[in-house]
Amino acid sequence: MSPVSIPEFVRLDGGNVSLVLDCRGPAPLALYWGVALDTGADGAMLDLLAAREDAPCSPLVAAPLALTPLAGQAFPGRPGLLAHGDGLRWATFTRIAAVRRPDAGVVEIDSVDEANVLTLTHHLRLDRHGMLVGWTSVRNDGQAALDLEWLSAPVLPLPPDMAEWVTFEGRWAGEYRMQTQPRVMGAVVKENRRGRTSHDAYPGILAQGVGAGEQAGEVYAFHLGWSGNHRIYADTLSDGRAYVQMGELFMPGEMRLGPGQAYRTPALYAACSMAGRNGISACFHAHVRERPEHARLRAKPRPVHYNTWEAVYFDHDPALLLKLVDAAAEIGVERFVLDDGWFRGRRNDRAGLGDWFVDEGIYPEGLHPIVQKVRERGMEFGLWVEPEMVNPDSDLYRAHPDWVLGTPPAPQLVFRNQLVLDASRADVQEYLFGRLDALLREYPISYLKWDMNRDISHPGGADGVAAAHAHVEGLYSLLRRLRDAYPGVEIESCSAGGGRADLGVLSLTDRVWASDSNDALDRLTIQRGLSTFLPPELMGSHVGPTDCHITGRRVSMTTRVATALFFHMGLEVDLLGLSGAERTELSAGIALHKQNRPVLHEGRLVRLDRPANEEAFGIIAPDGSRALYSYTLISEQSGYFPGRLRLSGLQSDATYRVRLIWPDASLKSPLFSALRDGVVFTGSTLIAAGLQLPRLHPQSALILEVVRVPQG
Ligand code: GLA
Repeated sequence: MSPVSIPEFVRLDGGNVSLVLDCRGPAPLALYWGVALDTGADGAMLDLLAAREDAPCSPLVAAPLALTPLAGQAFPGRPGLLAHGDGLRWATFTRIAAVRRPDAGVVEIDSVDEANVLTLTHHLRLDRHGMLVGWTSVRNDGQAALDLEWLSAPVLPLPPDMAEWVTFEGRWAGEYRMQTQPRVMGAVVKENRRGRTSHDAYPGILAQGVGAGEQAGEVYAFHLGWSGNHRIYADTLSDGRAYVQMGELFMPGEMRLGPGQAYRTPALYAACSMAGRNGISACFHAHVRERPEHARLRAKPRPVHYNTWEAVYFDHDPALLLKLVDAAAEIGVERFVLDDGWFRGRRNDRAGLGDWFVDEGIYPEGLHPIVQKVRERGMEFGLWVEPEMVNPDSDLYRAHPDWVLGTPPAPQLVFRNQLVLDASRADVQEYLFGRLDALLREYPISYLKWDMNRDISHPGGADGVAAAHAHVEGLYSLLRRLRDAYPGVEIESCSAGGGRADLGVLSLTDRVWASDSNDALDRLTIQRGLSTFLPPELMGSHVGPTDCHITGRRVSMTTRVATALFFHMGLEVDLLGLSGAERTELSAGIALHKQNRPVLHEGRLVRLDRPANEEAFGIIAPDGSRALYSYTLISEQSGYFPGRLRLSGLQSDATYRVRLIWPDASLKSPLFSALRDGVVFTGSTLIAAGLQLPRLHPQSALILEVVRVPQG
């Protein structure tokens, strides 16, 4: 065998980021990950900068923080690999066997543990926006089984002076609330055992420097693209070193690797910014927008949706629905989505899931009349499905009770009267693909809203082995098969609102339903949190009923429109019950959205740091020529006036015409009255001095259009 030459250091550069790996030791480690270094910076320099003496009561040389911290190196934090073979083979200690550079932005490193007969591979890619995407894999090179308890995606070092962790927590109808906690010695752990991405433990975490916010400061972000159980382990050692591990959470015995078998972690997405959380979002959004799997998003503007759920719930009446189709078309809707309630036996949430046949009792002519009318009125047709689920009261369950996941004799938890099919089974896959395929063949369906309304609480497969991982893989392969068979059909990922909105499922889907709460004020918080990772055009946002069905809050049409308008806009309201004035305002809002859609769906999102009773952000066109800013006063300020609105994100040396374009109502403020016609200001005045906000009623929203004026 010819000796393999291993470079001492490997450097990747992309966007405003550099990554330097040290391959001199037994395991590769990141010497540096952060803002771009000059070309003269090298590994030896970075190594010397990091050099420190031994600490008291500590080993002479601290165990390294490798891409996979190893038990065999006595890493004092959490090893990146926890595995054993029948109680042995647990103290992993490797040597680097190969370093590959398939192209300038990518490195792949194999590290072999000959004693414990396994190979670790790290794959890292730094793109031109500074997004680092990586995975780790472990292969069992032995003759006996290897039980895998934990494998982290590549582990990156954090600067020691990060002050806090930010996690994303929530619940049904209240997702993506950012929670900040001080970084102290020890770990912050978020574990998700819900079998889906979850409402309460989103697989994203940030480390922030002192005083960091949306607009300024040092921030490091991590996201795991996986739609099942996961663990986030964010740790600080007593010597000050800090790191984040993210990976799949396995049930006991779930991941057993036979001889020659390998397991690969979901992709880790990591970004860093010296410009606050907006810098993180700029990186995530640019990366996501460029992914080949989102070509469908780029191919056409995101159609304005009408969704039937909050208008009719399970009361499907074709005559009424035909009227809603007309009303939707007249108001400017481009895609009509028929939600839950159209299939056999589905008159409430206690029956029908699994029987994916149009209910002939409700729809004697099938969905043809409604689909035909939707198409005649120039709209696309979308259909709600929840393929992974089954109601015990369904023909499918009566025929195949053995198809569900469970851990008998433990009783199943009652959860919206439904159970989970084991999507990893070939017969389940065939049945589901067969039914969806039949529907897609019979009707010109352009869109599937793919829902998932319960946790996978008892993820046991037919053989008794935990199948939570296999279920997610089964889901992904079903989605992949559908995409391949129907490349023109878009798919939404919904899970009781925003329970499945990670970049894993999003590599196979085209939109997420961020929350079931259409309460515009709640939605501001939800959208702020989720937009840290996802660009606006991937996030569905609907104008709901006047009195929100979930919170009971009454919010004006003006504010509901202003909140939905910046994202993938839709409506979820009984259009037949609207007053003339509401209909006029809604239709004006849709027109405004369409007119500004290229900016909203391609531009740079800048969230502004505001007091807690306000929300404000802007989206600036890629060429900087145009922007839209949104301001909402959620509840009253303590003084007479809200403060100034400073339009960060503009160019300070440009000149802009600022116009108040929403709402169409007169305001007493002399500035805002003048803004009705548009006023020219220099960029630096808008950024540094800002606009004095008018006195507003709580729950009021304003939208400003900012257009660059040609100079000279
Ligand atoms: C979930 C979804 C809703 C709706 C209902 C239908 O809760 O999030 O938007 O589709 O299911 O049952």
